[in-house]
Amino acid sequence: MTEQTTWSQRFESALHPAIACFNASIGFDIELIEYDLTGSVAHAKMLAHTGIISPEEGEKLVAGLEQIRQEYRQGNFNPGIDAEDVHFAVERRLTEIAGDVGKKLHTARSRNDQVGTDTRLYLRAQISQIRIQLREFQSVLLNIAEANVETLIPGYTHLQRAQPLSLAHHLLAYFEMLQRDWERLGEIAQRVNTSPLGCGALAGTTFPIDRHYTASLLEFAGVYRNSLDGVSDRDFAIEFLCAASLILVHLSRLSEEIILWASQEFGFVTLKDTCSTGSSIMPQKKNPDVPELVRGKTGRVFGHLQAMLVLMKGLPLAYNKDLQEDKEALFDTVKTVTGCLEAMTILLREGMEFKSERLAEAVDEDFSNATDVADYLASKGIPFREAYNLVGKVVRTCLQSDKLLKDLSLEEWQALHPAFEGDIYQAIAPTQVVAARNSYGGTGFEQVRQALQEARDRLVSGSSS
Ligand code: ARG
Repeated sequence: MTEQTTWSQRFESALHPAIACFNASIGFDIELIEYDLTGSVAHAKMLAHTGIISPEEGEKLVAGLEQIRQEYRQGNFNPGIDAEDVHFAVERRLTEIAGDVGKKLHTARSRNDQVGTDTRLYLRAQISQIRIQLREFQSVLLNIAEANVETLIPGYTHLQRAQPLSLAHHLLAYFEMLQRDWERLGEIAQRVNTSPLGCGALAGTTFPIDRHYTASLLEFAGVYRNSLDGVSDRDFAIEFLCAASLILVHLSRLSEEIILWASQEFGFVTLKDTCSTGSSIMPQKKNPDVPELVRGKTGRVFGHLQAMLVLMKGLPLAYNKDLQEDKEALFDTVKTVTGCLEAMTILLREGMEFKSERLAEAVDEDFSNATDVADYLASKGIPFREAYNLVGKVVRTCLQSDKLLKDLSLEEWQALHPAFEGDIYQAIAPTQVVAARNSYGGTGFEQVRQALQEARDRLVSGSSS
């Protein structure tokens, strides 16, 4: 047994090479290195601050750790599988650089509280990046919405034409979903931002450490109150995976709509060449790869959430090696969410165009103004249910004679009900149908303009928090 291993001389023989490989996390947890170094710097400073080591020793440790950071950034720190994990790799290199004092770094600390600290620092940074990306995406949506208040688009329920909408209103629905995502991540970030450093392996430590000191150096908002909970809690990771899953739910729903809109059947948008691909065999095709991939990648994020829940459910207190499995789930989720947000932002900003002529035709070719006929009669005192039944008959008659409501003559309307007057045509024109839905949160242009203003204000005022 060499001195270069993580554990003590109690072991008589080395690990089986295949088991060493199986056990090692260095292949993926190297992703944590910057956070590991930052956490270790804070720990070393605390050891000196509390007199557990001398100030000179503290300085040597910090200098050695910063040297490793430089080496890593320059591509000169590439620990192999024998290092087991990033924590041991750093400690080993530190001892090479700083000599025996390097061996003091792990005083009053365990890899259990160390890895928990690293993971939280990592996630805190990633969450703040993702929140910036969410803001960018919201701002792209808002720009398109602002330019399309009076562009109409069919609205659907059950994927059947229901009532026409302002395109801005439709896009603002996604703005709201992303607003919740942004807020949710902000709330989760507060819980991520709690320090487990100093919880030790599970029970705390015999050394007179100062957990609040390391927490404040690392800008954590507080510390775990219970050491067992501190080293084994992964609620924050699960919460993040939930939030990430919801972001993907939202992106995937929008993706599905874009895929439909880009089809010949809908024809509501065209995809630009920069954001779509062709087929290797069918020359006429232009495929919506970006939204399809986003829809597809959603599944793997749900998978990570599920894996993490199952990982935790049977774990006795406190740390168990199972917890090493949290990392790839988190790393892949961060990469997936970040990649999807980036691609969708580009797609919406410059890779896609709404076809306004086709949209205008679409809202004028169906019976999505039928409710307005019923509302017209109801506003003249006819009970709504009676009006509704009558309009049902009108629609049936129209379908039989291959007409739309707008094609009926005034005589035909009046034969159906004497309350109809010349203003019925105005009441069922798509623009009026949309404008009239002026209830709070509705698609009426006045409401939409108000909603756009509020969205803009929220984007500006919330962008710094
Ligand atoms: N690589 C380990 C992980 O990711 C670090 C903690 C190891 N702790 C231990 N007691 N073996 O969880």
